[in-house]
Amino acid sequence: MDFSIKTFDSKNTPAQLKTGCIVVGVFENKKLSGTALAIDRKGDLSAAVKSGDISGKAGSSLLLRSTDGIGAERVLLLGLGKEESISGKDFSTAAQAAARVLATLGSPDAVLALPFDNVKERTLPWAIQCMVIAAREQAYRFDETKSKKDPAPTGVRKIAIAVDAAGGNAAKAAAAQAVAIANGMDLTKDLGNLAPNICTPTYLANTAKKLAKQFGLGVEVLDRKQLQALNMGSFLSVTNGSDEPPKFIVLKHMGGKAKDAPTVLVGKGITFDSGGISLKPGGGMDEMKYDMSGAGSVLGTFRAIAEMKLKLNVIGVIPACENMPSGRATKPGDIVTSMSGQTIEVLNTDAEGRLILCDALTYVERYKPDAVVDIATLTGACITALGHHNSGLFTRHDDAHDALADALLAAGKASGDTAWRMPIEDSYQEQLKSNFADMANIGGPPGGSITAACFLERFTRKYTWAHLDIAGTAWKSGAAKGATGRPVPLLTTFLVDRAQSAAGK
Ligand code: BES
Ligand code: MN
Ligand code: ZN
Repeated sequence: MDFSIKTFDSKNTPAQLKTGCIVVGVFENKKLSGTALAIDRKGDLSAAVKSGDISGKAGSSLLLRSTDGIGAERVLLLGLGKEESISGKDFSTAAQAAARVLATLGSPDAVLALPFDNVKERTLPWAIQCMVIAAREQAYRFDETKSKKDPAPTGVRKIAIAVDAAGGNAAKAAAAQAVAIANGMDLTKDLGNLAPNICTPTYLANTAKKLAKQFGLGVEVLDRKQLQALNMGSFLSVTNGSDEPPKFIVLKHMGGKAKDAPTVLVGKGITFDSGGISLKPGGGMDEMKYDMSGAGSVLGTFRAIAEMKLKLNVIGVIPACENMPSGRATKPGDIVTSMSGQTIEVLNTDAEGRLILCDALTYVERYKPDAVVDIATLTGACITALGHHNSGLFTRHDDAHDALADALLAAGKASGDTAWRMPIEDSYQEQLKSNFADMANIGGPPGGSITAACFLERFTRKYTWAHLDIAGTAWKSGAAKGATGRPVPLLTTFLVDRAQSAAGK
């Protein structure tokens, strides 16, 4: 799919424009948007609106074919909601509706002439990003493992976005950034959707190596021997029952100044979570192939920032392994020693995410990071707490951490990939008490996503840290089963913002 930016002038008006389809807006009050009025030469558009064939509500649409006197072969009227102020939500609903219609149109190209710079509390770049990502989401297919491929996508392949000449450069930059994010999301989705016998720790490592080669990133993959030498007893205890070798992946995008402390992303890379000896129930267990979605989102975010040539130092770290039962598997009651020296009583082998992350979080101390964000499908309890709309965001509660949390929340809001902040407090820490080790790996049913975050917190005291629990947001179940590509938009936007404030310093 190809995106470009178009500007109109007196010699090149919306009415003259030659295109398979021009997309223009109509409001709930039955009024036409500016460009819609400009191409309503013979009154076809107003007549269509008057007829009641389109309500103007956000997401409504009507395709007109024979519109006399203009260059476009078709006009797609797109409902935008309230004229006084187009809300961000309405605009994104409309963008998704437009993407759906364009995907099945008999035209290879279309021009979107919508009020991109007139969305309440949102900027032109935001509206463009919203449109581009909606179109790319619509175009996404996963048929790598089907012998009969899905039919090749038809419909519009070339989308031009029309803006005022003044906004041309900002629009171009926004479209390029949105395409990079969409490319990152596609990679994250592909990795998540791949079967767990294909997307193994080794496959993730090879994907990182490929990315590094393609974009000139630094890459390092540590194997079991090296992990043993580092004393990663907690990580290694999770991989005991599996025949797949564990991998510890490090990716480096050093786009900032050499002396600038890096921002570090740590992604949970459990390529299949059976629960181990604390075996999960059989129903829906296939979905635990998505338990590497944190890792997938780190790789997708690197794909995006590398394409953007982001001026920021970013290091990605992925502990990757399977969680399987076997005669060699870790048992409930086993005590393991983490890289930090803290001992852990494994009371439930299904609470394995924290066991691999804690060693990765200790490992990244060596980078003297500016901030560390870990991303993990960590707890079912997070789905109970927040459902499928928000990722859970956890940090300590002091000024530095409040600032990091606010930056992540803002990036979520700006990208439509939202998170919700949850508490970390000593009273929850007490639930992790063990009679036999420094801590237990579970804190009982109450506040399960919080005690999981509290566990991680104990390994992050040397730097500023945030934890994103994406158990509810990384994939969809049921008939629409598939990875969402979240939280790549949040993470990428967060890093873009960070690069901007670093440049301003
Ligand atoms: N990967 C799961 C969390 C999960 C479950 C994510 C369902 C998405 C959907 C994690 O490893 C896990 O099993 N967590 C346990 C923790 C419990 C044993 C304390 C859980 O949430 O049940
Ligand atoms: Mn588990
Ligand atoms: Zn898991």
